[in-house]
Amino acid sequence: MCDLVYLQVTALCVYPELMKSPDFPEDTKEHARTILGGKCCGGGSLGAYSESVGVEVIRRHVAKYIEDRDGGIKCDYNNVILSGGASEAIKSVMELLNRPVDGKPVGVMVPIPQYPLYSATVAEFGMHQINYYLDEPRAWALDIPELARALEESRSTCIPRLLVVINPGNPTGSVLTRQNIEDIIKFAFENRLIIMADEVYQHNVYAADREFHSFKKVISEMGEPYNTMEMASFMSCSKGYMGECGLRGGYCELLNFDPKVKAMLFKMISAKLCSTVHGQAVMDCVVNPPKPGDPSYELYSQERDAVLSSLKERAALIAETFNSMEGFKCNQVQGAMYAFPQLELPEKAIEAAKAAGQAPDVFYAFQLLENTGICVVPGSGFGQRPGTYHFRTTILPQTPLLKEMLARMQEFHQTFIKKYQ
Ligand SMILES: Cc1ncc(COP(=O)(O)O)c(C=O)c1O
Repeated sequence: MCDLVYLQVTALCVYPELMKSPDFPEDTKEHARTILGGKCCGGGSLGAYSESVGVEVIRRHVAKYIEDRDGGIKCDYNNVILSGGASEAIKSVMELLNRPVDGKPVGVMVPIPQYPLYSATVAEFGMHQINYYLDEPRAWALDIPELARALEESRSTCIPRLLVVINPGNPTGSVLTRQNIEDIIKFAFENRLIIMADEVYQHNVYAADREFHSFKKVISEMGEPYNTMEMASFMSCSKGYMGECGLRGGYCELLNFDPKVKAMLFKMISAKLCSTVHGQAVMDCVVNPPKPGDPSYELYSQERDAVLSSLKERAALIAETFNSMEGFKCNQVQGAMYAFPQLELPEKAIEAAKAAGQAPDVFYAFQLLENTGICVVPGSGFGQRPGTYHFRTTILPQTPLLKEMLARMQEFHQTFIKKYQ
């Protein structure tokens, strides 16, 4: 992953003595000084607590990033909260909105397959998970009649309040079209649902016919009455070309939240003091990267472009390889970092799984691991239509390693099928 700039700037922030070193480009020093000098970065150190919602100058940079990304649509930094990874903000917003009514739990619409943070948080907070299935034959599109079905079926058991959309998708690798996003927004508006737009993979789009459209931009451009909807969107330094997942940086933008509700969220967050200030500094590097003409720009842009073009190559390679394997069907990896192929398992393999006390896809994943050392996550970890079997694998290994992994998988699969057919 591309990391030199992040490491240089954060190293300078952690140990400002390094400012004296000629090894650090001047713009990285300037950047570090901006962060450390930022209002709220107490005592010019990352080692001090920050304002609970995050260092003001970093929130301002996030707001500017959002405005530039969305073609100038206004973003008020007062609506931006910095967090220790997107996860922390996602959980805080879910906790905030978890207000059961007359003993009925709050319903959260979650895509299937989903990223397990959502099912885990729904369970932790005693909320109700409303599963809606993504449409695999249509490149994992989000189907509005399916949303309506799931919502109607849930009404007797919960108070539906949140609609989670992951775009680009984990584990599906899908990227929603603008039309699809507009339809989702209309659905949420008509059903008074708050959209939680998980957009942590916004830099990871590979398909030539797809681009990333933020929910904020689409809501804003749809105008009245949609542009008054409440929405929360989430971003992270863990993905993209950065991959700084251990440093725990993220942010959330709140749109149209009632000031009293927002105040309640800020109060909740303040009880946790603040998110890691180191992570906030990394987030600043993500939203405020070197500009053309800066000494670090060439290196930064080379690294960024190399990472993204390699991911794009690997995205194509993985889907092509799976589709060439008997019994596999894999949608194009349009974005994010994963492939989620469907595989047919012979009846005898399903029986062997039963005898081993495992779900068939879990059985397959264990066999793969034990025979090849390759670790994939069975589809049941994310949810899948009953009777279908998937696994998730990632495009993160470098191309030669990915090729080797796919070759080993192919060999394993042939042997597995022969054994159980
Ligand atoms: C869809 C999605 N949302 C959120 C996260 C969590 O991101 P973070 O590391 O910023 O907490 C992940 C991590 O894999 C993810 O895939």
